[in-house]
Amino acid sequence: MIVAGSATQGLAAELAAETGRALTPVSYEQFPDGERKVQVTATGDRAVVVASTISDGDWVELLQLQDALAEAGVEHVTTVLPYMGYARQDQAFEDGDPVSARAMARAISTGTDRVITVNPHEEAVTEFFDVPTTTLDAAGRLATPLDELTDPLFLSPDAGAIELAETVRDAYGRGAVDHFEKTRHSGTDVEIEPSEAAVDGRDVVLVDDIVATGSTMSESVAVLNAREANNVIVTCVHPLLVSNARLKLARAGVETVYGTDTIERGVSEVSVAPAVADVL
Ligand code: R5P
Repeated sequence: MIVAGSATQGLAAELAAETGRALTPVSYEQFPDGERKVQVTATGDRAVVVASTISDGDWVELLQLQDALAEAGVEHVTTVLPYMGYARQDQAFEDGDPVSARAMARAISTGTDRVITVNPHEEAVTEFFDVPTTTLDAAGRLATPLDELTDPLFLSPDAGAIELAETVRDAYGRGAVDHFEKTRHSGTDVEIEPSEAAVDGRDVVLVDDIVATGSTMSESVAVLNAREANNVIVTCVHPLLVSNARLKLARAGVETVYGTDTIERGVSEVSVAPAVADVL
């Protein structure tokens, strides 16, 4: 059976269809004091919980889903974390900091036999789980909606995401790959330094793992516009799109933005369900 977290209902349904497994009825409630409660109608002894942890409430809900399955006597639980929140806090950056990703991973490990994550921000976070963990790279699926491109350049905003850009290029079948350099001054203030790559008249596909505030992508687009790129497409695995991110991208002149359904937004055009189904 497939058991959906409330933030990941669409992907859970896709995965059920992809694998032929039953989509379990679940209800989600929130009490007036803010506490959450789920109710699961478990039907079988093996479960796959599919729950992105975008908000703190999603983490609580995931623990509750796992516990409800234990209560129902389910013998084997796989937890799919399509988007793992707190993965960017993968170390104690300053004295007194927690390793938040580790704390979250340990909590989740108590209620599952296996974990599957999709493009975690840092691969190293998988070592924090106390159960076998599989990491999926869904970036190749981002090539699916791309039509005929003119002299395409697949570009990442920093060196850390160049492998994602390469993966999308390989899946598309042709094109060059390059990266900008990024300096982050604060949560919303980033500086982008262009590469030498010629972009004049080319279609540019910007690729990153996450678009959060949209600062990284809107600054990258500004550089490309100034250098007369033909068409700029913004794509990412996890379209977090917090606050006014979508507006920032629109104001930067971006017409096409899309990501996967690890986070369910209006731009979540590509499903990772086939990739998850392959490793279940
Ligand atoms: C950072 O290293 C990530 O790969 C993304 O570039 C970052 O999360 C994007 O954040 P924002 O949209 O807030 O600039």
